[in-house]
Amino acid sequence: MDRIVIQGGRRLAGEVPISGAKNAALPLLASTLLSRDECVISNVPRLQDVTTILKLLRHLGAAVREEGNGVVGVAAPSLGATDAPYEMVKTMRASILVLGPLVARCGEATVSLPGGCAIGARPVNLHLNGLERMGAQVAIEHGYIRVKAGRLHGARIALDLPTVTGTENLLMAATLADGVTTIEHAAREPEIVDLANALIARGARISGAGTDVITIEGVPALAGGAYRVMPDRIETGTYLAAAAVTGGDVFLRGGVGGHLEAVLSKLREAGADIAVDAEGIRLRRTGPLRAVDFETAPHPGFPTDMQAQMMALLSIAEGASVITESVFESRLTHVAELRRMGANIRVDGNHAVVRGVPHLSGAPVMASDLRASACLVVAGLAAEGETHVLRVYHLDRGYERMEDKLSRVGAAIYRRRDAA
Ligand code: UD1
Repeated sequence: MDRIVIQGGRRLAGEVPISGAKNAALPLLASTLLSRDECVISNVPRLQDVTTILKLLRHLGAAVREEGNGVVGVAAPSLGATDAPYEMVKTMRASILVLGPLVARCGEATVSLPGGCAIGARPVNLHLNGLERMGAQVAIEHGYIRVKAGRLHGARIALDLPTVTGTENLLMAATLADGVTTIEHAAREPEIVDLANALIARGARISGAGTDVITIEGVPALAGGAYRVMPDRIETGTYLAAAAVTGGDVFLRGGVGGHLEAVLSKLREAGADIAVDAEGIRLRRTGPLRAVDFETAPHPGFPTDMQAQMMALLSIAEGASVITESVFESRLTHVAELRRMGANIRVDGNHAVVRGVPHLSGAPVMASDLRASACLVVAGLAAEGETHVLRVYHLDRGYERMEDKLSRVGAAIYRRRDAA
Protein backbone atom coordinates (compact mmCIF):
# COMPACT_ATOMS: atom_id res chain seq x y z
CA MET A 1 0.00 0.00 0.00
CA ASP A 2 1.20 3.53 -0.75
CA ARG A 3 1.56 6.46 1.58
CA ILE A 4 2.20 10.13 0.93
CA VAL A 5 5.08 11.60 2.90
CA ILE A 6 5.18 15.38 3.37
CA GLN A 7 7.88 17.51 4.93
CA GLY A 8 5.82 20.51 5.99
CA GLY A 9 6.61 24.19 6.05
CA ARG A 10 7.49 24.84 2.41
CA ARG A 11 5.81 27.81 0.76
CA LEU A 12 4.05 26.88 -2.49
CA ALA A 13 4.71 29.07 -5.53
CA GLY A 14 4.16 28.55 -9.23
CA GLU A 15 1.48 27.11 -11.47
CA VAL A 16 -0.74 24.05 -11.09
CA PRO A 17 -2.70 22.71 -14.08
CA ILE A 18 -6.26 21.73 -13.18
CA SER A 19 -7.54 18.38 -14.44
CA GLY A 20 -10.96 17.48 -15.79
CA ALA A 21 -13.63 17.15 -13.12
CA LYS A 22 -14.18 13.71 -11.65
CA ASN A 23 -17.81 14.48 -10.81
CA ALA A 24 -18.49 15.65 -14.37
CA ALA A 25 -16.55 12.87 -16.10
CA LEU A 26 -18.46 10.10 -14.30
CA PRO A 27 -21.97 11.14 -15.40
CA LEU A 28 -20.68 12.07 -18.87
CA LEU A 29 -19.21 8.59 -19.28
CA ALA A 30 -22.42 6.99 -17.96
CA SER A 31 -24.44 9.09 -20.42
CA THR A 32 -22.67 7.45 -23.38
CA LEU A 33 -24.98 4.46 -22.77
CA LEU A 34 -27.84 6.58 -24.11
CA SER A 35 -26.34 6.67 -27.66
CA ARG A 36 -25.69 3.94 -30.19
CA ASP A 37 -22.96 5.93 -31.91
CA GLU A 38 -19.56 6.62 -30.41
CA CYS A 39 -19.15 9.45 -27.91
CA VAL A 40 -15.66 10.84 -27.51
CA ILE A 41 -15.00 12.44 -24.14
CA SER A 42 -11.82 14.46 -23.66
CA ASN A 43 -10.09 15.97 -20.62
CA VAL A 44 -11.02 12.82 -18.68
CA PRO A 45 -8.90 12.72 -15.51
CA ARG A 46 -6.80 9.62 -14.84
CA LEU A 47 -8.40 8.48 -11.60
CA GLN A 48 -9.40 5.24 -9.96
CA ASP A 49 -13.11 6.19 -10.15
CA VAL A 50 -12.80 6.68 -13.91
CA THR A 51 -11.18 3.25 -14.25
CA THR A 52 -14.11 1.80 -12.29
CA ILE A 53 -16.80 3.37 -14.48
CA LEU A 54 -14.99 2.32 -17.67
CA LYS A 55 -14.86 -1.23 -16.33
CA LEU A 56 -18.59 -1.03 -15.70
CA LEU A 57 -19.28 0.30 -19.20
CA ARG A 58 -17.27 -2.61 -20.67
CA HIS A 59 -19.19 -5.04 -18.48
CA LEU A 60 -22.43 -3.65 -19.95
CA GLY A 61 -21.17 -4.34 -23.47
CA ALA A 62 -19.85 -0.94 -24.54
CA ALA A 63 -16.65 -0.74 -26.59
CA VAL A 64 -14.29 1.56 -24.69
CA ARG A 65 -11.30 3.02 -26.48
CA GLU A 66 -8.73 4.83 -24.33
CA GLU A 67 -6.60 7.00 -26.57
CA GLY A 68 -4.38 8.22 -23.75
CA ASN A 69 -3.97 11.92 -22.97
CA GLY A 70 -7.44 11.97 -21.44
CA VAL A 71 -9.46 11.01 -24.52
CA VAL A 72 -11.94 8.16 -24.14
CA GLY A 73 -14.27 6.87 -26.87
CA VAL A 74 -17.31 4.83 -25.85
CA ALA A 75 -19.54 3.10 -28.40
CA ALA A 76 -22.62 1.17 -27.36
CA PRO A 77 -24.44 0.11 -30.54
CA SER A 78 -26.03 -2.65 -28.46
CA LEU A 79 -25.71 -3.62 -24.83
CA GLY A 80 -24.97 -7.14 -23.63
CA ALA A 81 -25.96 -6.68 -19.98
CA THR A 82 -28.09 -4.35 -17.89
CA ASP A 83 -26.64 -4.94 -14.44
CA ALA A 84 -24.14 -3.14 -12.21
CA PRO A 85 -22.74 -5.81 -9.89
CA TYR A 86 -22.04 -5.34 -6.19
CA GLU A 87 -18.29 -5.70 -6.73
CA MET A 88 -18.24 -2.50 -8.80
CA VAL A 89 -20.82 -0.45 -6.91
CA LYS A 90 -19.15 -1.11 -3.57
CA THR A 91 -15.90 0.48 -4.76
CA MET A 92 -17.70 3.49 -6.21
CA ARG A 93 -21.17 4.71 -5.27
CA ALA A 94 -21.34 6.82 -8.43
CA SER A 95 -21.86 3.54 -10.34
CA ILE A 96 -25.53 4.31 -9.62
CA LEU A 97 -25.23 6.78 -12.53
CA VAL A 98 -25.74 3.96 -15.05
CA LEU A 99 -29.24 3.34 -13.66
CA GLY A 100 -31.03 6.17 -15.51
CA PRO A 101 -29.34 5.55 -18.88
CA LEU A 102 -29.91 1.78 -18.71
CA VAL A 103 -33.61 2.09 -17.89
CA ALA A 104 -34.11 4.71 -20.60
CA ARG A 105 -32.25 2.73 -23.24
CA CYS A 106 -33.12 -0.89 -22.36
CA GLY A 107 -36.28 -0.64 -20.25
CA GLU A 108 -34.61 -2.46 -17.38
CA ALA A 109 -31.66 -2.36 -15.03
CA THR A 110 -30.37 -4.23 -12.01
CA VAL A 111 -27.96 -2.17 -9.95
CA SER A 112 -26.49 -3.11 -6.61
CA LEU A 113 -27.98 -0.91 -3.89
CA PRO A 114 -25.10 1.27 -2.64
CA GLY A 115 -24.43 0.80 1.05
CA GLY A 116 -23.77 3.54 3.56
CA CYS A 117 -20.30 5.00 3.43
CA ALA A 118 -17.86 6.78 5.68
CA ILE A 119 -19.67 10.10 5.37
CA GLY A 120 -23.25 9.00 5.92
CA ALA A 121 -26.14 6.71 5.00
CA ARG A 122 -26.48 8.16 1.49
CA PRO A 123 -29.76 6.62 0.32
CA VAL A 124 -30.89 6.66 -3.34
CA ASN A 125 -34.62 6.81 -2.68
CA LEU A 126 -35.02 10.03 -4.65
CA HIS A 127 -33.43 8.49 -7.76
CA LEU A 128 -35.91 5.60 -7.49
CA ASN A 129 -38.99 7.70 -6.72
CA GLY A 130 -38.25 9.81 -9.78
CA LEU A 131 -37.98 6.76 -12.04
CA GLU A 132 -41.29 5.48 -10.62
CA ARG A 133 -42.91 8.81 -11.49
CA MET A 134 -41.72 8.16 -15.06
CA GLY A 135 -43.51 4.80 -15.14
CA ALA A 136 -40.81 2.40 -13.93
CA GLN A 137 -41.44 -0.39 -11.46
CA VAL A 138 -38.80 -0.58 -8.79
CA ALA A 139 -38.09 -3.47 -6.42
CA ILE A 140 -35.24 -4.03 -3.97
CA GLU A 141 -34.29 -7.71 -3.87
CA HIS A 142 -31.22 -9.41 -2.44
CA GLY A 143 -29.33 -6.13 -2.16
CA TYR A 144 -30.10 -5.11 -5.75
CA ILE A 145 -32.35 -2.45 -7.20
CA ARG A 146 -34.39 -4.04 -9.98
CA VAL A 147 -36.08 -1.61 -12.31
CA LYS A 148 -38.45 -2.56 -15.11
CA ALA A 149 -40.11 -0.16 -17.46
CA GLY A 150 -41.51 -0.16 -20.93
CA ARG A 151 -40.66 3.15 -22.46
CA LEU A 152 -40.42 5.80 -19.78
CA HIS A 153 -42.89 8.67 -19.93
CA GLY A 154 -42.41 12.29 -19.01
CA ALA A 155 -43.43 13.33 -15.50
CA ARG A 156 -43.33 16.16 -13.01
CA ILE A 157 -40.75 15.20 -10.41
CA ALA A 158 -40.33 17.32 -7.29
CA LEU A 159 -37.21 16.26 -5.41
CA ASP A 160 -37.28 16.49 -1.60
CA LEU A 161 -33.58 17.39 -1.63
CA PRO A 162 -31.45 18.68 -4.50
CA THR A 163 -29.51 15.43 -4.92
CA VAL A 164 -26.67 15.75 -7.43
CA THR A 165 -26.41 12.24 -8.87
CA GLY A 166 -30.19 11.84 -8.48
CA THR A 167 -30.77 14.91 -10.67
CA GLU A 168 -28.23 13.54 -13.18
CA ASN A 169 -29.83 10.08 -13.29
CA LEU A 170 -33.31 11.52 -13.86
CA LEU A 171 -32.05 14.06 -16.39
CA MET A 172 -30.40 11.29 -18.41
CA ALA A 173 -33.43 9.00 -18.17
CA ALA A 174 -35.79 11.77 -19.28
CA THR A 175 -33.85 12.52 -22.48
CA LEU A 176 -35.27 9.34 -24.07
CA ALA A 177 -38.69 9.33 -22.36
CA ASP A 178 -41.99 9.99 -24.16
CA GLY A 179 -43.06 13.57 -23.48
CA VAL A 180 -41.92 16.30 -21.13
CA THR A 181 -40.28 15.84 -17.73
CA THR A 182 -39.72 18.60 -15.21
CA ILE A 183 -37.33 18.11 -12.32
CA GLU A 184 -38.17 20.59 -9.57
CA HIS A 185 -35.84 21.42 -6.69
CA ALA A 186 -33.11 20.08 -8.95
CA ALA A 187 -29.45 20.29 -7.94
CA ARG A 188 -27.66 23.26 -9.56
CA GLU A 189 -24.05 22.10 -9.49
CA PRO A 190 -21.89 23.10 -12.50
CA GLU A 191 -21.39 19.38 -13.26
CA ILE A 192 -25.11 19.15 -14.00
CA VAL A 193 -24.81 21.99 -16.48
CA ASP A 194 -21.84 20.20 -18.08
CA LEU A 195 -23.86 16.99 -18.43
CA ALA A 196 -26.85 18.85 -19.87
CA ASN A 197 -24.63 20.66 -22.39
CA ALA A 198 -23.14 17.36 -23.53
CA LEU A 199 -26.58 15.82 -23.94
CA ILE A 200 -27.89 18.87 -25.80
CA ALA A 201 -24.93 18.61 -28.20
CA ARG A 202 -26.06 15.04 -28.91
CA GLY A 203 -29.65 16.06 -29.67
CA ALA A 204 -31.36 16.15 -26.27
CA ARG A 205 -33.87 18.91 -25.55
CA ILE A 206 -33.09 20.32 -22.12
CA SER A 207 -33.62 23.73 -20.61
CA GLY A 208 -33.01 25.13 -17.14
CA ALA A 209 -29.89 23.15 -16.16
CA GLY A 210 -28.12 25.19 -13.49
CA THR A 211 -31.45 26.41 -12.08
CA ASP A 212 -33.72 24.50 -9.73
CA VAL A 213 -36.22 23.56 -12.45
CA ILE A 214 -34.95 21.50 -15.37
CA THR A 215 -37.27 20.72 -18.27
CA ILE A 216 -36.54 17.85 -20.62
CA GLU A 217 -38.49 17.06 -23.76
CA GLY A 218 -37.83 13.42 -24.64
CA VAL A 219 -36.47 12.51 -28.09
CA PRO A 220 -36.44 9.05 -29.75
CA ALA A 221 -32.64 8.74 -29.84
CA LEU A 222 -29.44 10.60 -29.03
CA ALA A 223 -26.50 10.85 -31.39
CA GLY A 224 -22.85 10.35 -30.56
CA GLY A 225 -20.47 13.27 -30.43
CA ALA A 226 -17.44 14.83 -28.84
CA TYR A 227 -17.35 16.67 -25.52
CA ARG A 228 -14.68 18.12 -23.24
CA VAL A 229 -15.06 17.65 -19.48
CA MET A 230 -15.13 20.87 -17.40
CA PRO A 231 -12.25 21.63 -15.00
CA ASP A 232 -12.43 20.14 -11.52
CA ARG A 233 -13.65 22.78 -9.09
CA ILE A 234 -12.91 20.67 -6.01
CA GLU A 235 -9.36 19.95 -7.14
CA THR A 236 -9.04 23.71 -7.74
CA GLY A 237 -10.37 24.49 -4.28
CA THR A 238 -8.07 21.95 -2.66
CA TYR A 239 -4.97 23.55 -4.22
CA LEU A 240 -6.26 27.00 -3.28
CA ALA A 241 -6.40 25.82 0.33
CA ALA A 242 -2.92 24.31 -0.03
CA ALA A 243 -1.54 27.59 -1.38
CA ALA A 244 -3.25 29.58 1.36
CA VAL A 245 -2.12 27.33 4.21
CA THR A 246 1.55 27.74 3.21
CA GLY A 247 1.35 31.51 2.64
CA GLY A 248 2.02 30.81 -1.02
CA ASP A 249 1.48 32.37 -4.44
CA VAL A 250 -0.04 29.89 -6.86
CA PHE A 251 -1.83 30.16 -10.20
CA LEU A 252 -4.37 27.42 -10.91
CA ARG A 253 -4.44 27.16 -14.66
CA GLY A 254 -7.91 26.24 -15.92
CA GLY A 255 -9.66 26.85 -12.58
CA VAL A 256 -13.02 28.57 -13.05
CA GLY A 257 -13.77 31.28 -10.50
CA GLY A 258 -17.50 31.29 -11.28
CA HIS A 259 -17.75 27.65 -10.13
CA LEU A 260 -16.23 28.39 -6.74
CA GLU A 261 -17.65 31.68 -5.57
CA ALA A 262 -18.56 30.54 -2.05
CA VAL A 263 -15.08 29.06 -1.54
CA LEU A 264 -13.28 32.11 -2.94
CA SER A 265 -15.30 34.40 -0.73
CA LYS A 266 -14.39 32.42 2.42
CA LEU A 267 -10.72 32.22 1.41
CA ARG A 268 -10.67 36.01 0.96
CA GLU A 269 -12.31 36.46 4.34
CA ALA A 270 -9.58 34.21 5.77
CA GLY A 271 -6.90 36.55 4.42
CA ALA A 272 -6.05 35.38 0.89
CA ASP A 273 -5.72 37.71 -2.12
CA ILE A 274 -7.43 36.12 -5.08
CA ALA A 275 -7.53 37.23 -8.69
CA VAL A 276 -9.71 35.45 -11.23
CA ASP A 277 -9.32 35.71 -14.99
CA ALA A 278 -10.26 33.70 -18.05
CA GLU A 279 -7.15 31.53 -17.74
CA GLY A 280 -7.46 30.56 -14.11
CA ILE A 281 -7.25 31.68 -10.51
CA ARG A 282 -4.29 33.17 -8.65
CA LEU A 283 -4.10 33.03 -4.87
CA ARG A 284 -1.53 34.84 -2.74
CA ARG A 285 -1.33 35.16 0.99
CA THR A 286 1.10 37.43 2.72
CA GLY A 287 -0.82 38.44 5.84
CA PRO A 288 -2.08 36.28 8.71
CA LEU A 289 -4.87 33.72 8.38
CA ARG A 290 -8.09 34.76 10.09
CA ALA A 291 -10.91 32.58 11.42
CA VAL A 292 -14.12 32.38 9.36
CA ASP A 293 -17.45 30.64 9.89
CA PHE A 294 -19.14 28.68 7.13
CA GLU A 295 -21.86 26.12 6.55
CA THR A 296 -21.96 23.61 3.73
CA ALA A 297 -24.97 23.67 1.40
CA PRO A 298 -25.95 22.57 -2.10
CA HIS A 299 -24.51 24.69 -4.91
CA PRO A 300 -24.14 27.70 -5.02
CA GLY A 301 -23.50 27.31 -1.29
CA PHE A 302 -20.18 26.22 0.20
CA PRO A 303 -19.48 22.70 -1.17
CA THR A 304 -19.35 19.85 1.33
CA ASP A 305 -16.49 18.45 -0.77
CA MET A 306 -14.34 21.44 0.35
CA GLN A 307 -15.29 21.42 4.04
CA ALA A 308 -12.44 19.22 5.25
CA GLN A 309 -9.68 21.05 3.33
CA MET A 310 -10.98 24.42 4.59
CA MET A 311 -10.97 23.06 8.13
CA ALA A 312 -7.28 22.15 7.79
CA LEU A 313 -6.57 25.74 6.72
CA LEU A 314 -8.57 27.26 9.57
CA SER A 315 -6.87 25.06 12.14
CA ILE A 316 -3.90 27.48 12.02
CA ALA A 317 -5.93 30.72 11.61
CA GLU A 318 -6.13 33.39 14.30
CA GLY A 319 -9.37 33.05 16.28
CA ALA A 320 -12.21 30.56 16.39
CA SER A 321 -14.10 29.33 13.31
CA VAL A 322 -17.47 27.60 13.42
CA ILE A 323 -17.94 25.05 10.64
CA THR A 324 -21.33 23.46 10.08
CA GLU A 325 -21.72 20.38 7.90
CA SER A 326 -25.30 20.35 6.65
CA VAL A 327 -25.17 18.03 3.61
CA PHE A 328 -23.88 14.75 5.05
CA GLU A 329 -24.52 13.54 8.59
CA SER A 330 -21.09 12.20 9.51
CA ARG A 331 -18.59 14.11 7.50
CA LEU A 332 -16.32 15.26 10.33
CA THR A 333 -14.18 12.14 10.68
CA HIS A 334 -11.03 14.08 9.75
CA VAL A 335 -11.33 16.05 13.01
CA ALA A 336 -9.77 13.26 15.05
CA GLU A 337 -6.79 13.09 12.70
CA LEU A 338 -6.33 16.88 12.64
CA ARG A 339 -6.32 16.77 16.45
CA ARG A 340 -3.51 14.23 16.30
CA MET A 341 -1.58 16.89 14.39
CA GLY A 342 -2.19 19.38 17.20
CA ALA A 343 -5.38 21.09 16.00
CA ASN A 344 -7.80 22.38 18.61
CA ILE A 345 -11.25 21.35 17.38
CA ARG A 346 -14.41 20.65 19.35
CA VAL A 347 -17.32 18.86 17.70
CA ASP A 348 -20.92 19.30 18.74
CA GLY A 349 -23.33 17.42 16.46
CA ASN A 350 -22.69 18.69 12.95
CA HIS A 351 -20.78 21.76 14.17
CA ALA A 352 -17.03 21.95 14.59
CA VAL A 353 -15.46 24.81 16.54
CA VAL A 354 -11.90 25.24 15.33
CA ARG A 355 -9.66 27.34 17.57
CA GLY A 356 -6.58 28.23 15.59
CA VAL A 357 -3.23 27.06 16.94
CA PRO A 358 0.12 28.65 15.98
CA HIS A 359 1.29 25.54 14.18
CA LEU A 360 0.41 21.92 13.46
CA SER A 361 2.90 19.12 13.95
CA GLY A 362 3.52 16.33 11.45
CA ALA A 363 2.19 12.88 12.33
CA PRO A 364 1.16 9.61 10.73
CA VAL A 365 -2.53 10.03 9.84
CA MET A 366 -5.18 8.37 7.74
CA ALA A 367 -8.67 9.10 6.62
CA SER A 368 -11.63 7.09 5.54
CA ASP A 369 -12.75 9.15 2.55
CA LEU A 370 -11.43 11.12 -0.37
CA ARG A 371 -11.79 14.73 0.80
CA ALA A 372 -10.77 13.92 4.37
CA SER A 373 -7.52 12.54 2.93
CA ALA A 374 -7.03 15.77 0.95
CA CYS A 375 -7.54 17.72 4.18
CA LEU A 376 -4.69 15.79 5.79
CA VAL A 377 -2.39 16.64 2.86
CA VAL A 378 -3.27 20.34 3.25
CA ALA A 379 -2.56 20.10 6.98
CA GLY A 380 0.71 18.25 6.33
CA LEU A 381 1.93 21.00 3.99
CA ALA A 382 1.75 23.51 6.84
CA ALA A 383 2.82 21.24 9.70
CA GLU A 384 6.21 21.25 11.36
CA GLY A 385 8.06 18.03 10.59
CA GLU A 386 6.95 15.00 8.63
CA THR A 387 3.40 13.86 7.96
CA HIS A 388 2.58 10.43 6.57
CA VAL A 389 -0.86 10.18 4.98
CA LEU A 390 -1.85 6.52 4.83
CA ARG A 391 -4.60 4.90 2.73
CA VAL A 392 -3.62 6.85 -0.36
CA TYR A 393 -6.12 4.89 -2.44
CA HIS A 394 -8.74 7.40 -1.29
CA LEU A 395 -6.74 10.26 -2.84
CA ASP A 396 -6.21 8.27 -6.04
CA ARG A 397 -9.97 8.01 -6.47
CA GLY A 398 -10.24 11.75 -6.98
CA TYR A 399 -6.91 13.55 -7.48
CA GLU A 400 -4.72 13.12 -10.54
CA ARG A 401 -0.99 12.99 -9.67
CA MET A 402 -1.49 15.06 -6.53
CA GLU A 403 2.06 14.63 -5.24
CA ASP A 404 3.52 15.61 -8.66
CA LYS A 405 1.37 18.70 -8.91
CA LEU A 406 2.29 19.81 -5.40
CA SER A 407 5.99 19.07 -5.69
CA ARG A 408 6.17 21.16 -8.86
CA VAL A 409 5.13 24.19 -6.87
CA GLY A 410 7.67 23.57 -4.14
CA ALA A 411 6.14 21.10 -1.70
CA ALA A 412 8.41 18.45 -0.24
CA ILE A 413 6.08 15.54 -0.92
CA TYR A 414 6.48 12.07 -2.33
CA ARG A 415 4.70 8.74 -2.55
CA ARG A 416 6.25 5.78 -0.81
CA ARG A 417 5.35 2.19 -1.48
CA ASP A 418 5.24 0.23 1.75
CA ALA A 419 6.26 -3.39 1.80
CA ALA A 420 3.08 -5.50 1.52
C1 UD1 B 1 -22.50 14.11 -5.18
C2 UD1 B 1 -21.00 14.12 -5.42
C3 UD1 B 1 -20.25 14.19 -4.09
C4 UD1 B 1 -20.75 15.37 -3.26
C5 UD1 B 1 -22.26 15.36 -3.14
C6 UD1 B 1 -22.82 16.60 -2.47
C7 UD1 B 1 -20.73 12.89 -7.50
C8 UD1 B 1 -20.27 11.66 -8.17
N1 UD1 B 1 -20.64 12.93 -6.16
O1 UD1 B 1 -22.78 12.93 -4.43
O2 UD1 B 1 -18.86 14.35 -4.38
O3 UD1 B 1 -20.21 15.28 -1.94
O4 UD1 B 1 -22.86 15.28 -4.45
O5 UD1 B 1 -22.40 17.74 -3.13
O6 UD1 B 1 -21.14 13.85 -8.14
N2 UD1 B 1 -30.01 11.99 -0.45
C9 UD1 B 1 -31.17 11.34 -0.06
N3 UD1 B 1 -31.80 10.53 -0.98
C10 UD1 B 1 -31.34 10.35 -2.24
C11 UD1 B 1 -30.16 11.03 -2.62
C12 UD1 B 1 -29.52 11.84 -1.71
O7 UD1 B 1 -31.61 11.47 1.07
O8 UD1 B 1 -31.96 9.61 -3.01
C13 UD1 B 1 -29.30 12.88 0.52
C14 UD1 B 1 -27.90 12.37 0.85
O9 UD1 B 1 -27.91 11.40 1.87
C15 UD1 B 1 -27.20 13.66 1.26
C16 UD1 B 1 -27.85 14.70 0.34
O10 UD1 B 1 -29.06 14.12 -0.12
O11 UD1 B 1 -27.47 13.98 2.59
C17 UD1 B 1 -27.01 15.12 -0.84
O12 UD1 B 1 -26.54 13.97 -1.50
P1 UD1 B 1 -26.34 13.89 -3.09
O13 UD1 B 1 -26.40 15.25 -3.67
O14 UD1 B 1 -27.25 12.85 -3.64
O15 UD1 B 1 -24.85 13.34 -3.18
P2 UD1 B 1 -24.30 12.42 -4.33
O16 UD1 B 1 -25.02 12.72 -5.59
O17 UD1 B 1 -24.22 11.01 -3.85
